[in-house]
Amino acid sequence: MSHVNELTARGRTHPPIEGDCIVQISVTVNGTTHDNDVEPRTLLVHYVREQLGLTGTNVGCDTSSCGACTLHLNGEAVKSCTVLAVQADGQQVATIESLEVDGIMHPMQTAFMENHGLQCGFCTPGMVMASISLLNENPNPSEDQVRLGLEGNLCRCTGYHNIVKSVLACASAAAVSGSK
Ligand code: FES
Ligand code: FES
Repeated sequence: MSHVNELTARGRTHPPIEGDCIVQISVTVNGTTHDNDVEPRTLLVHYVREQLGLTGTNVGCDTSSCGACTLHLNGEAVKSCTVLAVQADGQQVATIESLEVDGIMHPMQTAFMENHGLQCGFCTPGMVMASISLLNENPNPSEDQVRLGLEGNLCRCTGYHNIVKSVLACASAAAVSGSK
């Protein structure tokens, strides 16, 4: 079986184009380095979901509009449907699966849970990853800054109010624990 056919057999959504080449990449995802063969056109979101089985990162639009696919690339939030897997070669990726450690959720996940920042949950992994990145850049944002910072992430359910409340609650909790 050829390389291309092997990739198809592993459940790729895109059939190979005849003559497509295969590129080997090495990406550290959630602290583990993975060496994989990918097509040059493989999107990072499809790589993490389909080749690594990390399905917490969702695909909402595939056209960089919704933010459901947001993950961290070298510590910064990116829409992984806008990044090729080959561009992540040699880089550090963190997905929503990296946040829970020893059964304990990340404070941002706890804040979303406690403040009803989700309903159906489809946008939530992307929202949480974008929100963590937002607080990394600005640990004490105003409500307007949170709304602006998350404008690339769409939610069909919540009306955004409780999402913003969750992010502000997480920022306050971090400020309180940091001042102790
Ligand atoms: S799936 Fe990437 S922005 Fe919508
Ligand atoms: S909670 Fe349903 S899309 Fe945001």
